[in-house]
Amino acid sequence: MTSPDRTTMQDDLTALSVTSLLRLRERAFQSAGSGIVITDASQSDNPVIDVNPAFERITGHRRADVLGRSCRMLQSFRTDPAAIDEIRAGIAARRETSVVILNRRRDGTPFWNDLLIAPVFAPDGQLTHFVGIQTDITARKVAEDRTNFLARVSDQLGVSLDYRAALTGAAEQAVPLIADLFLVDLVSGDRGTDRVAATFADLEGGAHAGRLPDWTVQPEDNHGSALAIRTGRSQLIRSVADNESPSLARDADTLRRRTGDDLLSHLTVPLIARRRILGALTIATTSRSGRTLETADLHLMQDLARRVAMAIDNAMLYTEARMAVRARDQFLSIAAHELRTPVSSIKGYAQMLLRAQRKGEIPVERLKRSLETIDSSTDRLTLLTSDLLDVSRIRLGQLPLRSSEIDFAAKVRSVIQRFEESAVDTHRIDLIVAPGSYLVRADADRIDQVLTNLLENAAKYSPDSDRIALSLCVGDGQVRLSVHDSGIGLPPDGDRGIFEPFERAANALKHELPGLGLGLYICRGLIERHGGQIWAESAGEGLGTTFHVTIPTLGHGPDLNADHAIPLTFG
Ligand SMILES: Cc1cc2nc3c(=O)[nH]c(=O)nc-3n(C[C@H](O)[C@H](O)[C@H](O)COP(=O)(O)O)c2cc1C
Repeated sequence: MTSPDRTTMQDDLTALSVTSLLRLRERAFQSAGSGIVITDASQSDNPVIDVNPAFERITGHRRADVLGRSCRMLQSFRTDPAAIDEIRAGIAARRETSVVILNRRRDGTPFWNDLLIAPVFAPDGQLTHFVGIQTDITARKVAEDRTNFLARVSDQLGVSLDYRAALTGAAEQAVPLIADLFLVDLVSGDRGTDRVAATFADLEGGAHAGRLPDWTVQPEDNHGSALAIRTGRSQLIRSVADNESPSLARDADTLRRRTGDDLLSHLTVPLIARRRILGALTIATTSRSGRTLETADLHLMQDLARRVAMAIDNAMLYTEARMAVRARDQFLSIAAHELRTPVSSIKGYAQMLLRAQRKGEIPVERLKRSLETIDSSTDRLTLLTSDLLDVSRIRLGQLPLRSSEIDFAAKVRSVIQRFEESAVDTHRIDLIVAPGSYLVRADADRIDQVLTNLLENAAKYSPDSDRIALSLCVGDGQVRLSVHDSGIGLPPDGDRGIFEPFERAANALKHELPGLGLGLYICRGLIERHGGQIWAESAGEGLGTTFHVTIPTLGHGPDLNADHAIPLTFG
């Protein structure tokens, strides 16, 4: 180094007296931002002979307390043994060594130490001292670790559709890196919550999954997941001790009883995708780490929640799509089967007639029977294909209505009459009509289609009973028809899917009742096109089903309330 600046500096230093130089260096030692520690290499175990104020600030140890001791005191069971080996090798080889090592302050909290250890030699080449320079890089390291944590969790969520497993993995990595406690609650089907992951820091500083009993979510809680799921808002409670929420105090009490730890800070963020609240993530710190959660933690968790919610939503969409494809495939096979039966019978009878015609003799009776079968099979085919056409029109929103003013009650009566006259079915049909005007604006043929479908359904799904009960009433500007059968009923929640295309109640399949599963979907489409509603009620399997249909009326009738409703009882 022979630059003019350097030379000038060297000259200046040489010009200084030894005392001034020492004073200058002492000043640098005292005011340096990095910790400086000097050890005596001539003694065994390299005891500390001096430290500067920055060392005291970083480690929390007073100078007087560390003199004569080894810097080993800064290590804990969490310090990486490989880093210690590296230092040991450097000291033995008397060379400069640099490591990043996890140390512990006097109060037990961890800190990342970017450490440089340099040997000091006397003019005769004798090793006399080591000087250690410490830089506290905890903040940088924590930021890096958090970024890596987010990236790792995103990767895990991205590669697997099993988001529950990925969340359990995330919970294990989050403790103690992010907080002392990490919980994941997902909204479950019955509007409750399902705790899919729970991890908390153990005494040794590791993480333990699912070892936090009694911290259950009470829907009315005014903290944590219950609140986030209810309101869709995040909540950061910096100091649990200063918070007045009784439910939070309850959780803090439980934690203290179970682990002896005090709950310090608490943070919950909702999991929201496409405006739907899917659950919540909660983290908390305890007296174990002594940390207070801050806005930075809130932002980290909100970032994590966005990724988690998106992954859950994607997995759910994928599952729904797969189920829809499966339902469609199932439908295609049922449809093919249903269409093949009449086609085969038309083909069979046509061939038989051709053979007879070739022989020149067609007995009149056989000709009649064959033509009747061909006729009824063609009817069946027409019905199936028009159902398929209706489904496609409903799905495309292109179902035309030829509306006119009709008497809904009269329509119901005429459909019942036709149904009874068809003699295909043996059920007796009872109809009770409450007084009122049943004038509606509707497409008579489409209403006929709905009523026929509901009656056929009631008959089909109550093979072991002989009665179907219908009641009609008006009120609230609506005509209301109820069709009650005493048949196989619906399983719990079974009313949900039956109005979807290609879906049938699970117990309908069990009873091996034929059908494409399109009738009720078409009914719903038709009734909704008329501005009405259709729904089903059942007390359970084997307890019958009641279908209700409402359509806006043109007249005004009494209110649809309990006093005017017709009780549906079998006499
Ligand atoms: C000058 C000097 C400073 C040191 N500073 C630290 C330190 O800040 N943190 C640490 O974990 N180890 C530090 N060490 C290392 C330990 O004192 C010790 O040498 C290391 O643990 C390996 O030795 P051992 O196997 O006897 O424990 C320092 C060593 C010297 C010589």
